[in-house]
Amino acid sequence: MKRIFSGVQPTNKLHIGNYLGAIRNWVKLQDDPTFADAEKIFCVVDLHAITLPQDPVALRQNVRDIAAAYVACGIDPAKASIFPQSAVAAHSELSWILGCITPMGWLNRMTQFKEKAGKHREEAGLGLYSYPVLMAADILLYKTSHVPVGEDQKQHLELARDLAGAFNRRYGVDYFPLPEPIIMGEGARIMNLRDGTQKMSKSAESDMTRINLTDDADTIALKIRKAKTDPDPLPETIEALEKRPEADNLVTIFALLDDTSRKDVLSRYSGKMFSEFKPALAELAVEKLSPISARMRELQEHPDALNRILIEGTEKVRALAEKDMEEIRHIVGFTKMA
Ligand code: AMP
Ligand code: TRP
Repeated sequence: MKRIFSGVQPTNKLHIGNYLGAIRNWVKLQDDPTFADAEKIFCVVDLHAITLPQDPVALRQNVRDIAAAYVACGIDPAKASIFPQSAVAAHSELSWILGCITPMGWLNRMTQFKEKAGKHREEAGLGLYSYPVLMAADILLYKTSHVPVGEDQKQHLELARDLAGAFNRRYGVDYFPLPEPIIMGEGARIMNLRDGTQKMSKSAESDMTRINLTDDADTIALKIRKAKTDPDPLPETIEALEKRPEADNLVTIFALLDDTSRKDVLSRYSGKMFSEFKPALAELAVEKLSPISARMRELQEHPDALNRILIEGTEKVRALAEKDMEEIRHIVGFTKMA
C-alpha cells in the first residue's frame, strides 16, 4: 500500500521555496489518480523545531500558521491528515529505537548538521545531531513509501532508507519498506534573492532574501525589484542561464509559478532586461500567492475550523502509529504490559 509522508518545521513563516519545492508537490500528489488510494500524512514537525531554541508561545502559534498554510496551499483535510508531530508520541519512541542502531559515522556525514552547528560543534545539542534519526522515525513509523521533499533533504532520505535496511537486518525481519524520495522538477531548490549560491531559507537573517507566502503585493514587488541580478539581458539558452545563478533563480521561480519550463520563459524574455522581467515576475507572484495568503488569513480568523482539522488529523494518525508501534515493540523485544 502506498503511503505519502512529509513535513515542514514550524520555525518561521513559509517562503516561496517551501511552496515551490515541497508543498505544491504534495498537492499535486494528493490530486494524482495514481495516489488516490494512498494514505497521505502531512506533519508540522515541532519536535524538529526544538533542535534549535524556540520561544514556546511563538512555537505554538507557528504550528497553527504552518497548518493553515498547508490548507491554504491546497492540502485537503478530507484527503490528507494534518497534525503536529509532538501530538503523536510514537515519533519520539521510534526515534530512540532507531538511534540505537545508527552508527555515529552515518550522522557525521550529514551536511545539514555541519552547516547548522558551524564552528560551534562542541556546543551543538544532541538533538541537532540526531535530527535525521527523528526524521527517519517520522517516515518509517507509517511504513511510508513516498516522501515528497526539496532537494536539500535528499541526504536525510538516504539515511532513512539505510536505517530501514539496518533495522530489518538487525531483527531479521522484512518490516520497513524503503521509502522513495520524490523530488520534483526544476523547483527543487529555490535560492536566496540576495545570493544565488545560497538556498532560500526561513532562518536567513534578512527578510529581503525570501518571499514569504504572507507577504503583501508591495512587499513582493519590492523584494523582487531589489533581488540581486546582473546588468545583462536575459540569455537565449539554459546553458547560458545556468552560468548566472541569480538570473537562473528568478527565471526558475517564474517558470514554476506559471507552470511552464525555464526554456519557455526564456523564449518569451530572452534579450529583455531585468527592468522589464522583474515587474512581470512580481505581477505573476502576486497573482499566484495572494489567494494563498487570503485563505491563510481566513483560516486564522476561524480557529475552531483549524482546531478541528488538527484534531481529526491527530486522531487518524495516532491510530495508524499505535498499530505499527505495537508491532515494532514486539520485534524489538519489549515487554507488553496490559
Ligand atoms: P524547512 O523550511 O527546512 O522546514 O523545509 C520544508 C520543506 O521545504 C522541505 O521539503 C524542503 O526540502 C523544502 N525547502 C526548503 N527550502 C527550500 C528551497 N529554498 N527550495 C526548495 N525547497 C525548499
Ligand atoms: N527535515 C525536514 C526539513 O527540514 C522536515 C522533516 C521532518 C521531514 N521530518 C520529515 C520531511 C519527514 C519529510 C519527511 O525540511
